[in-house]
Amino acid sequence: MNSVRPPLVDGHGRAIGDVRVSVTDRCNFRCQYCMPAEGLPWLERSDVLTFEEIERLVTLLVQMGVHDVRLTGGEPLVRRDFPVLAARLAAIPGLQDLSVTTNGYLLDRDADALVAAGVHRFNVSIDSLQRDRFFEMTRRDALPRVLAGIERLAAHPEAHPIKINAVAIRGFTEDEVLPFARFAREHPYEVRFIEFMPLDADHTWTPGSVLSGAELRELIGREYPLEEAPREPSATARVYRFADGQGQLGFIDPVSDPFCGDCNRIRLTADGKLRTCLFSHNETDLRTPLRDGSSDDAIDAIIRAAVWRKELKHRVNEPGYVQPLRTMSAIGG
Ligand code: 5AD
Ligand code: SF4
Repeated sequence: MNSVRPPLVDGHGRAIGDVRVSVTDRCNFRCQYCMPAEGLPWLERSDVLTFEEIERLVTLLVQMGVHDVRLTGGEPLVRRDFPVLAARLAAIPGLQDLSVTTNGYLLDRDADALVAAGVHRFNVSIDSLQRDRFFEMTRRDALPRVLAGIERLAAHPEAHPIKINAVAIRGFTEDEVLPFARFAREHPYEVRFIEFMPLDADHTWTPGSVLSGAELRELIGREYPLEEAPREPSATARVYRFADGQGQLGFIDPVSDPFCGDCNRIRLTADGKLRTCLFSHNETDLRTPLRDGSSDDAIDAIIRAAVWRKELKHRVNEPGYVQPLRTMSAIGG
């Protein structure tokens, strides 16, 4: 089944096929590149969309041609009964791909329920394979538990290939790249390096703090020659295979090599705001119409008008760039 409503397109001719839904702004980690050590003022529960509201919006978006839904946070697994929500969304006719981005801390508890619910693609964040450096970056001494959670997930053949995301930060990640390369060669996981973006609460980001994908590939290639694989349309990652055929790595280079041109993504925050770019300075409130008795057609029109104004590209590399007020945890990766 495909769109029973006209396709959702922006003013630059891009058809929207992917929505990232943040199900909570809360998190049990405090990653340096995302949250302050003391956490952030959390949303009131009544401000967060209910499962029914999320299901209604996702159904509407799928009717407009969105086929991929990624559930994020904060940390999505801290939302109560999250696997129940996942199962409800997985059952929406026309939805092709339901995925989850998680820090992995609760996977040991929830991996089985999520796979049973119909989630078959997972991205798990790990920034270091050394326990003390993982602790330094996430401010939680949780590496063994995250690795145990990934193993639990890996026991499910449907959950493969599992992706491991590492944020690449100058002065930190250089020492991590070769251990990660070896990890990707020894396990059936695709490790992906994500360039540090200016979405951190502490505002420590500077252009110089980005360790670019090109630099990472150079560091790895000295030890393990890499070959680029063909890029899928609208994919965020460039995939490189090890030249000897043993494993692959992904590079998400939004700062040094933006992929805005074929961006097909929009985002929904936990409090029901539609964002058309990670770096947007404005957002569109969908919670009010959801709660004031507006019809699906009325909400369709609001979404369409907002998407029409989707940004052509981000301006991170331009002089005078201003970081959005929301951090990654409040937007949803
Ligand atoms: N820059 C790049 N990636 C980030 N993430 C969180 N904050 C940032 C940032 N400032 C990543 C997390 C996770 C995903 C949701 O986004 O590590 O993999
Ligand atoms: Fe939590 Fe993810 Fe932000 Fe880390 S990056 S603090 S795991 S939301």
